[in-house]
Amino acid sequence: MNHITNINLSNSDWNTTSEDLIVTGVYEEKTLSPQAKLIDSSTKHIFTKAIESGDVNGKVGTSHTFYYDSKILVLIGLGSKKNYDGNVARIVSGNASRLAITKGKNSFAMECLCSGNVKHCQSIGEGLVLGSYEFLGYKTKNQKSSKLKSVTIVGCDSDLIKKGFEIGKSVCLARDLGNHPGNISTPSKLAEVAKEIATEGGMKLTVFDRKEFTEMGMGGLAGVSQGTDEPPKFIIMEYMGGEQEKPKVLVGKGLTFDAGGISIKSAGKMDEMKYDMCGSTVVLGVFKAIAALKPKMNIVGIIPSTENLLGGKAYKPGDILKAYNGKTIEILNTDAEGRVILSDALSYASKHYDPEYILDFATLTGAVLAALGHIATGIMGTDDNLINEVKKSSKSTGEKVWELPLWPEFCKQVESNIADVKNTGAAGQAGTIAGAAFLKEFVGNEIPWVHFDIAGTAWGVKPDSINPKNSATGWGVRLVLDLLEI
Ligand code: BES
Ligand code: MG
Ligand code: ZN
Repeated sequence: MNHITNINLSNSDWNTTSEDLIVTGVYEEKTLSPQAKLIDSSTKHIFTKAIESGDVNGKVGTSHTFYYDSKILVLIGLGSKKNYDGNVARIVSGNASRLAITKGKNSFAMECLCSGNVKHCQSIGEGLVLGSYEFLGYKTKNQKSSKLKSVTIVGCDSDLIKKGFEIGKSVCLARDLGNHPGNISTPSKLAEVAKEIATEGGMKLTVFDRKEFTEMGMGGLAGVSQGTDEPPKFIIMEYMGGEQEKPKVLVGKGLTFDAGGISIKSAGKMDEMKYDMCGSTVVLGVFKAIAALKPKMNIVGIIPSTENLLGGKAYKPGDILKAYNGKTIEILNTDAEGRVILSDALSYASKHYDPEYILDFATLTGAVLAALGHIATGIMGTDDNLINEVKKSSKSTGEKVWELPLWPEFCKQVESNIADVKNTGAAGQAGTIAGAAFLKEFVGNEIPWVHFDIAGTAWGVKPDSINPKNSATGWGVRLVLDLLEI
């Protein structure tokens, strides 16, 4: 709800900024960043003296504040110089924003902590925005929301900082949508945000309502949404910035609240099911960045969106639904609804776009939390090359993935006795893989596809300088942008 929205870049030195808070850095080897060196020599060596006194260790997460004339000069720890990479740069930039918040600032200045290596500049822009993110807007009393809005970078004016800044803002949009409760982040709200992004980025937007998608044969989404009066939506965004090339398609689960349906969830922590639309926010976050950065490529985003509630019209265990590709689905648990709405989205993508590949993002299974905790996203797919590309991007953005096997033995477990597939696997076994095995039935045979189960990583992760407490993370936006080479 709050984050830095303004960034000024300047290639000149620290003494040209009028900001009173200026952040520079020190490595564990006790060497200073370029601007810190300049400050040191024009301040009778305040930094060197502190280092010589043994107070400064340069570890990531540490900071030392010096008051000199009317300036507040801060040295933050950059860790060991030989380990300094994009992931560290992002974390330390997040630390700088957190520090400015602690000091009650509206704005501050920071040296671009790339030490002349421009390949870190993007991470620095990202870290500054992500570190400044807070979601406190619903508190009407004792408002502690920060005022931090603006940062001035000194010592470097690489365009990559701006790019990182735009990407950071896109992740914050994904976080905001995830953090808003189910009564605010509704399917209609997702469609509205898609409209704003489409207008900004010159994209085509199509939104099918209940009547339309039902008539079109999307029996999965129609079935799950039967139990709610909140209008469901099937949202399609098309960005065609490339030549005659196949589009890449991103699909995201937009389940804005998951009560489990007739197979109802237990009450404890049911509130956390407001995060069940975080697959859709990966898509919206990526499209937000695309609108700003306008890459030359073709990308389609598809979001099936509804609530999963209980009531006289709700779908039931035992029901059989027909998905958009004509396959029949036996419902054995109405709480396994994500895969059911995704069946239509994957079928639609496969039928209409001749995609280069499809990626889908979904908070699909509690089982992925048992397997990988809040640490890594479970990935499964049909194409080793694409999976390897995903793993590579994961390393460079610091968003961890772990591949689970999608072997034929697992795929057999979603065969139904009376329909084509059933929406559960073998009881108590390999639940995350069963989810992927089900989805695979709706992806065209020749289309490379990777499924991301983000139920553990989309929220609930251990807080650090770029991930606040009790917040959606926006997991995946940066990874996808890296994969798309935007
Ligand atoms: N939205 C849940 C998965 C989930 C669980 C997300 C915990 C975030 C945290 C999904 O719709 C679901 O309920 N899945 C069931 C599937 C089962 C009934 C086969 C599950 O994981 O229990
Ligand atoms: Mg569910
Ligand atoms: Zn769900």
